Amino acid sequence: MKLLITGASGLLGLNLALETHRAHQVTGAVHRTRLQGAPFPVLQADLTQPGAVARLFAEAKPDWVIHTAALANLEDCERNPDLAQRLNTEVPAILARACRKGGARLLHVSTDAVFDGTKGNYTETDSPNPLGVYARTKLAGEQAVLAEEAAAIVARVNLFGFSPTGNRSLAEFFLYNLLTGHPVKGFTDVFFCPLLVNHIAEIFVEMLQKDLHGLYHVFAAECVSKYEFGVRIARLFGLDERLIAPISVHDFGLLARRAPDLRMNTHKLSTALGHALPTLSPMLRRFYTLYQQGYPQKLKEYLI
Ligand SMILES: NC(=O)c1ccc[n+]([C@@H]2O[C@H](COP(=O)([O-])OP(=O)(O)OC[C@H]3O[C@@H](n4cnc5c(N)ncnc54)[C@H](OP(=O)(O)O)[C@@H]3O)[C@@H](O)[C@H]2O)c1
Repeated sequence: MKLLITGASGLLGLNLALETHRAHQVTGAVHRTRLQGAPFPVLQADLTQPGAVARLFAEAKPDWVIHTAALANLEDCERNPDLAQRLNTEVPAILARACRKGGARLLHVSTDAVFDGTKGNYTETDSPNPLGVYARTKLAGEQAVLAEEAAAIVARVNLFGFSPTGNRSLAEFFLYNLLTGHPVKGFTDVFFCPLLVNHIAEIFVEMLQKDLHGLYHVFAAECVSKYEFGVRIARLFGLDERLIAPISVHDFGLLARRAPDLRMNTHKLSTALGHALPTLSPMLRRFYTLYQQGYPQKLKEYLI
């Protein structure tokens, strides 16, 4: 399959491209970051500019598009709500229209942050209640995609893994601070169910191959507090878990409000795929193995 992956310099997009490029003809799309020596062709485009999506489609001629590009930093979204609106809401709509017209399948990546985190165990039929600019614009993006292209997949995710910049995931935050002996804080009252980005690649391909469409929760089958997540990483890597101070999110001055209970229900997806989603332990072991194999360094070398 010809697969176009937007955001191919980001945490999710680069890992997806690296995991899929052997089995599929992958083209990665980036914005500002150049990827040097990537084992797949890379196109440069500012997706917020008129005509950018059409040019990408003309060059990549995709059968499948996985759209990961976004303004994904919550604090940046609060500071730049207009850019967040363009990138997280308007661009997905333009991509969905291009897919419908060009006969390509779209998998659009969204987030658990569309919920306010007061309930937990969220299913696809629960009503979202976004708390900030990021969540609001991502929710509007989901709705715009499905309004443009009913055959699209909207995949709400949470994720961890290694990023080329080394600072895009909570797992990297814990690992690199603990490795250098820096004390950190971990929220005991914020829960999530992240998947390893490398594993998400397999799930996304399966979803596209099975011709799924509509909204899906793509999360680990196991949910933990952010504090416990840090402790699990410390133990796996043989690092000092006492460096992680357990704190409440309410005692931490964040600009963008965080939803506390983002435990997600994955029953719809596991039924559609015919198997359960993975638990955290095997994915954390794979994260450890990737580290031992020098994978973070390999990612960094792609950055010019
Ligand atoms: N990270 C998380 O914990 C998390 C959790 C839940 C959901 N998600 C969702 O997962 C997806 C991927 O997130 P991520 O953490 O991998 O993001 P990321 O590391 O911040 O990467 C963002 C990507 O978007 C690209 N981009 C930004 N502005 C662009 C523009 N104007 N035109 C074209 N491309 C542009 C960036 O390209 P350049 O680097 O080249 O500028 C980069 O490749 C997003 O949809 C996000 O909402 C992420």
